[in-house]
This record gives sequence, C-alpha cells and structure tokens, in this order.
Amino acid sequence: RSARAEDAVRRLTRWHDDFPTPGVRFADLTPVFADSAGFRAVLDCFAACAPDADLVAGVDARGFLLGAGVAATLGTGVVAVRKAGKLPPPVISREYTLEYGSAALEIPADGIDLAGRKVLLLDDVLATGGTLAAAAELFLAAGAEVVAAAVVLELGFLNGRERQGDYPVTSIVKL
Ligand code: PRP
Ligand code: MG
Repeated sequence: RSARAEDAVRRLTRWHDDFPTPGVRFADLTPVFADSAGFRAVLDCFAACAPDADLVAGVDARGFLLGAGVAATLGTGVVAVRKAGKLPPPVISREYTLEYGSAALEIPADGIDLAGRKVLLLDDVLATGGTLAAAAELFLAAGAEVVAAAVVLELGFLNGRERQGDYPVTSIVKL
C-alpha cells in the first residue's frame, strides 16, 4: 500500500447514496483519477503489486484507465476486459452477479497469445467480488496466470475478497 495513494483516495472520492439503485452507496473515483498526484500514486502502487507481470488487464469501464496507466508504467501491453456484446467473436465469456443486477464480461478468444502470460488484473472497486472473479476466470480459461489483482477501493463489508481465486488482491483503501 502507498500512503500517498491512500490519502488521495480518502480525500477525493465522491460518495453518493442510492445510486444507481436504492440501498447502494456509490463510490465515484473520478476526482482521484483527475488529480495528477493521486493518479500517479495509484498507478505506482499498482505497478509495485506485480513488477513481473507481462500483461495488464483492466475491467470495463474505469479499470480501462488504470490498466492503460499501469501498463505504460510497467512497459507491458494492456487488455480491456469488456462488458458483453462489445467484442466480435470468438470471445471467452463469464457471467457474474453484481451488487445490483447481473452481467457478463468478455475477452477475445483469439488474436492474443494468453497461454502462460502473467496478468495483473485491475478494477476501480471491489464490492461483492463477482466482477473481479469473473474477469480473472477469463484469463485462467485462456491459460494465463493471474499473478495479482488490485483495486482502488475495497468495500470490505461485502466480503468480495472471499470470492476471489488463488491470487493476491491489493486494495489502496479498504472500508
Ligand atoms: C462497479 C465497479 C466494479 C464492480 C464491483 O462496476 O466499477 O467493476 O462494480 O462490483 P462487484 O465487486 O460487486 O462485482 P459496474 O458494474 O457498476 O460498471 P462500470 O464499471 O461500467 O461502471
Ligand atoms: Mg466496474
């Protein structure tokens, strides 16, 4: 963990009750990413989680920003893990349940050689854990290894960490 990143997240996150559905308290990290020092601290913290990663993956949508930034920091390529229906076939697909609703995530089933790759998997928030677990399963199904996963904010009371596979999960702030 990084004190600078943690401070930026605690200071700058926008909280909103009952969004996008009643009972959900939404954490909007837009101001953290918009802050030059905050964004830099988050990227450096994530890059340090898996300095040996040879591929970075970011989950639709805010994970894209993190994935691109960390990949550039580490000097790797980046894969965008998309919501269903955005990628042409063939795709690898995993359904998951959300804190609100259900959905599916996809990556291409060809065009990238994922066998044996060491993937660092990134998203903005870990809530119930379904999203991150589904994203990791995509890479495992493709023969890659998820060497680490990292999120900016972990809602610990939702126990999403318990749904994760056999990879270390770092969060900058755990609530
Ligand atoms: C939010 C958040 C995480 C996910 C965490 O994404 O960005 O990806 O929920 O929830 P979970 O741990 O309970 O699965 P959301 O699906 O709202 O979509 P977005 O990123 O496209 O806004
Ligand atoms: Mg998301």
